[in-house]
Amino acid sequence: MITLDCTNVSNKVIGEQGLDLAQCFDEYAPKIQEIITNLNMNKDKPGAWLQWMNLGYNEETVWYVKEFAAMVDGRFDNILVLGIGGSALGAMALSEALLKPYWNLLDKEKRDNFPRIFFLDNIDPDEINGLLDILDLKKTLVNVITKSGSTAETMSQFMIIKDRLYELLGDDYRKNVVATTDKQAGILRQLANEEGYKTFVVPDDVGGRFSVFSAVGLVPLALVGLDIDEIIKGFKIMDLTLKNTDIKKNIAAQNALIHYLMDKQKGKYLSVIMPYSSRLKYVSDWYAQLWAESLGKEYNRKGEKINNGPTPIKALGATDQHSQIQLYNEGKNDKVITFIRVDEFDNELAIPNIFEYTGLNYLGGKSINRLINAEADATATTLADFQRPNLTIHLPKINEYYLAQLFYMFEMETAIIGELYDIDAFNQPGVEQAKNYTYALMGRLGYEESAAELKEKINRNKELMESI
Ligand code: PA5
Repeated sequence: MITLDCTNVSNKVIGEQGLDLAQCFDEYAPKIQEIITNLNMNKDKPGAWLQWMNLGYNEETVWYVKEFAAMVDGRFDNILVLGIGGSALGAMALSEALLKPYWNLLDKEKRDNFPRIFFLDNIDPDEINGLLDILDLKKTLVNVITKSGSTAETMSQFMIIKDRLYELLGDDYRKNVVATTDKQAGILRQLANEEGYKTFVVPDDVGGRFSVFSAVGLVPLALVGLDIDEIIKGFKIMDLTLKNTDIKKNIAAQNALIHYLMDKQKGKYLSVIMPYSSRLKYVSDWYAQLWAESLGKEYNRKGEKINNGPTPIKALGATDQHSQIQLYNEGKNDKVITFIRVDEFDNELAIPNIFEYTGLNYLGGKSINRLINAEADATATTLADFQRPNLTIHLPKINEYYLAQLFYMFEMETAIIGELYDIDAFNQPGVEQAKNYTYALMGRLGYEESAAELKEKINRNKELMESI
């Protein structure tokens, strides 16, 4: 199992900037017990948005995903995922972590004949054009993913790509499309029905950022040969473990409570996530979205304006030791830093002892594995010396089983801390507003009122600027 090391948040180690963990765990034990019990009791309640807790038990989906992957096996050179936010980040983070590094640059044999995988999660015209220049669309399976079925970024990408596919393949283009969307609502579902695309469902009551264990994540991962049974196994074992209502045995609850108290009692509201592995780089992106969209809320459940704001920051070890750590050690003491440490890498890489006569001989003969983990330990201890709270998550290895544990643990941590803050962690009203303004600016039917409101605001702001 993955484990959480809380040593460097204890006041015994970092003094008054730390927490008396035993006391905090005891004090909050009843609250945590209540939260975990309620989450489990309400998980099937329609509208509670807790269906993500059931995703690992959906055997039918897993079966259909595997069947589809087997059916298209060998037919495509590329998988192109179109999606944004929660519809892209999970599969992006997991494929980057789990596939061999530089996957898309490897020849087919080294990829065990599985396709390359690309994600378009932005609408940069140069990037899209660049990608279309290098992809043979005839040999590309496009997985368009949008729960709402109408997100402007994803659907505009899809319109461009569908058009090109149609030019190349005529009516057969649909064989190169698989859509993942709501079971009945939304424009993409309507299109899929009309055009006859193969489809997968984003289950009800699962928000995008909690959807990685649904078809949203599983389809792209299975298509490139990753072991989704192991992912499900990792989900299930972590789910079982996190059903334990005793905070002393529940790492998601510990992680949530520590972050909550650090924010509320110590003014440390910034949450830095820093894996010591390049393969885990996008895990930080996924975590940042999960944390930011779930916890950044204007109102609590009582309707009081609180502007809740624990703020995620992405970092990468060891790279960012040479960029951010100076600030974390000596700057404002307003952060909790979480390291993800990989205990055993896939490769053991020896540093040759070639410069014996120089000051580099302390490196020669050691492994680079030892160096990266020594740096992780050294950074954690230095931060503790500076009284900076930090946690370490130990990942025994980078594989499907442990990463699924990690992702589910973060999801549960987010749900628990949301309850501690007394906010709705599963909506995103702040995103919807900007989405609506975009529709208005692009002249979407039904958004005329928003368009008028927006124009008025823009003009008023301009006038204000001119008067300065
Ligand atoms: O987590 C979320 O709910 C969001 O980030 C969505 O995933 C994102 O806005 C994309 O939405 P959709 O899947 O409807 O295209």
